[in-house]
Amino acid sequence: AMLLALSATSSAFAAKPLVMGFSQVGAESEWRTANTVSIKEAAKKDGVTLKFADAQQKQENQVKALRSFIAQKVDVIAFSPVVESGWDTVLREAKAAKIPVILTDRAVNVADKSLYVTFIGSDFVEEGRRAGQWLLEHAKKTPDATLNIVELQGTVGSAPAIDRKEGFQEVIGKNPKMKIIRSQTGDFTRAKGKEVMEAFLKAEGKKINVLYAHNDDMAIGAIQAIEEAGMKPGKDIIIISIDGVKGAFEAMIAGKLNVTVECSPLLGPQLMSIARDVVAGKPVPARITTVEGVFPAEVAAKEFPNRKY
Ligand code: AHR
Repeated sequence: AMLLALSATSSAFAAKPLVMGFSQVGAESEWRTANTVSIKEAAKKDGVTLKFADAQQKQENQVKALRSFIAQKVDVIAFSPVVESGWDTVLREAKAAKIPVILTDRAVNVADKSLYVTFIGSDFVEEGRRAGQWLLEHAKKTPDATLNIVELQGTVGSAPAIDRKEGFQEVIGKNPKMKIIRSQTGDFTRAKGKEVMEAFLKAEGKKINVLYAHNDDMAIGAIQAIEEAGMKPGKDIIIISIDGVKGAFEAMIAGKLNVTVECSPLLGPQLMSIARDVVAGKPVPARITTVEGVFPAEVAAKEFPNRKY
């Protein structure tokens, strides 16, 4: 009886599970799928009740999801904003409802920084710089050659597309022989990456020396387009992309991709622990930057077994 009474008391005082509303961008890439798995698994492991909404790459769906989380009075809202701008109103609504907001993966562009508590994710400008740096180094082998670059941008208005373009340009701008001759969005998907690369090839053909893709999926789509055009990806056209998903490692091992700059999607565990701190009123850093590497094709086979996504 004593034991029973004790357990009844302790369960009565057991902390009620933390409820998190999470609005995800969509399922546009291998990266995104791994990110979703990471968040769902971490929530389960941590005993966090997760209300998960997939926005299918549409900001209006994300705004709706955030409003529904506010109406449901969740303990904390986390989201990866599809684009940077246009968040002021809904974030003010969350603040008025006293629900803390955590950004993961992508940043927002709001004047009032108190509209969110922290931002966990990669430094996308740095990723762009690393991609550019790799090309600068690679180009040293052929110092007199002109390098015509085509760029497959990510989703228009998204933080990774804006920042990866900026970081890359900053670095390659140092070499007057490097020129971006075409740049267009492929919306971070394989299908669009292929389609836009086909258009690039039609317009520029053999003039293209380098492809810079803002993510691996678009590069993988483009590889197909290049092969269908009778050229050798990774050889006739040097290919640089970002993420470091397994598909990119496979492409590197096959000699079709030259380098991938890592961007880790495994943000789930960190998100759950920060969310607990935020809800408990503990101070958290305003920016938590993911630590990442660069993987050229030469190390792909050796690294492949260590890849987690
Ligand atoms: O925001 C991260 C980017 O979004 C990844 O690099 C890309 O693959 C994804 O779609």
